[in-house]
Amino acid sequence: MPPLNGKIVTVVLFIAVLLGVLYCYISQSYRVVLSFEERFKASDKEARPPQEVVVTLSRHELHLVSQDYLRYKQPSIVQGRTDVVTVTPWLAPVVWEGTFNPGLLDTIYRPKNITVAVTVFAVGKYIMFLKNFLETAEQHFFVGFRVHFYVFTDRPNEVPQIKMAAGRQVTVMSVPSSNRWQEISARRMEIIQTLIEQKLENYCDYIFCLDVDSKFHGRWGTESLGGLVAVIHPGYYRDERSRFPYERRPASRAYVAHGEGDFYYCGGAFGGLLQEVHLLARTCRENFEADAKVGIEAAWQEESHLNRYMWINKPSKVLSPEYLWQDFKSRNSEVQIIRFSGVVKNYADIRPN
Ligand SMILES: *[C@@H]1O[C@H](CO)[C@@H](O)[C@H](O)[C@H]1NC(C)=O
Repeated sequence: MPPLNGKIVTVVLFIAVLLGVLYCYISQSYRVVLSFEERFKASDKEARPPQEVVVTLSRHELHLVSQDYLRYKQPSIVQGRTDVVTVTPWLAPVVWEGTFNPGLLDTIYRPKNITVAVTVFAVGKYIMFLKNFLETAEQHFFVGFRVHFYVFTDRPNEVPQIKMAAGRQVTVMSVPSSNRWQEISARRMEIIQTLIEQKLENYCDYIFCLDVDSKFHGRWGTESLGGLVAVIHPGYYRDERSRFPYERRPASRAYVAHGEGDFYYCGGAFGGLLQEVHLLARTCRENFEADAKVGIEAAWQEESHLNRYMWINKPSKVLSPEYLWQDFKSRNSEVQIIRFSGVVKNYADIRPN
């Protein structure tokens, strides 16, 4: 019967096509697996330091769990800050007062039992700022979270005793004194890199590197956490980028050409996940040393190298100038709260040169 024959032919053809598609799919994925394995073998041969392999991202950054009992103000999708930009062109949040719910964020991060490391350099007379820095940090910096301050100083005997809340502590690390503040600044990246490798791995989750000649005035907490975190410099945030004090000599590894650069970031505050800050510190140190070999010192030392790094490696979170203001600067209207601020000082009194 012709109609039945037709049906059988159709079914056979259909199965044949199905098998064909299946074969193509399997051989395709086989090829993908092969090439992936080849690539894996190739990268195996390169000597890589183990620090880069450790990835704990998922525990901290990628999975944000709230609590179902939590009640809080409804977030709006159409109303918010209109006087400032709250997201970068690469879609990283810019943290301003009014863009986040502190209670919600703390609830999300508390069960993660995170430990935040802080590095602070109190070399020479800069030790005079340490007491105020630590005391105000106890009042405002990650209150209720585990924080470990690492104080690098050439005057360990002068480190003040500060009463710390539970889960928070200070470790004093000795460093040699230096005759030039530029050198102190330069060695910071190397010291941060070494600290992460030797002490912090498998212990801390995040790290912030902060200037000691500053103090806290308002909350600085979980809203600042991210992979790579940069702070907008308070002195240039309203300026054209042609006015940013980037390193402009092409011979320097910190070079940023005219027409390049997003923002001008502070050298006095940066941070993020351990692995990210490790890579930043290592890269800036290598670039700094390469510059030194050809006799170049970048315009603003490590700040210049940091700005070059952040131009290529975009920060995943940007903190507004609320997170590093300067006491001598009058507050602009968009700055609704000052959280951390550089204290007024006389450089002639404290810098060795
Ligand atoms: C939190 O972390 C610290 C340090 O890693 C650890 O000693 C402590 O047991 C942890 N607490 C909980 C509840 O997991």
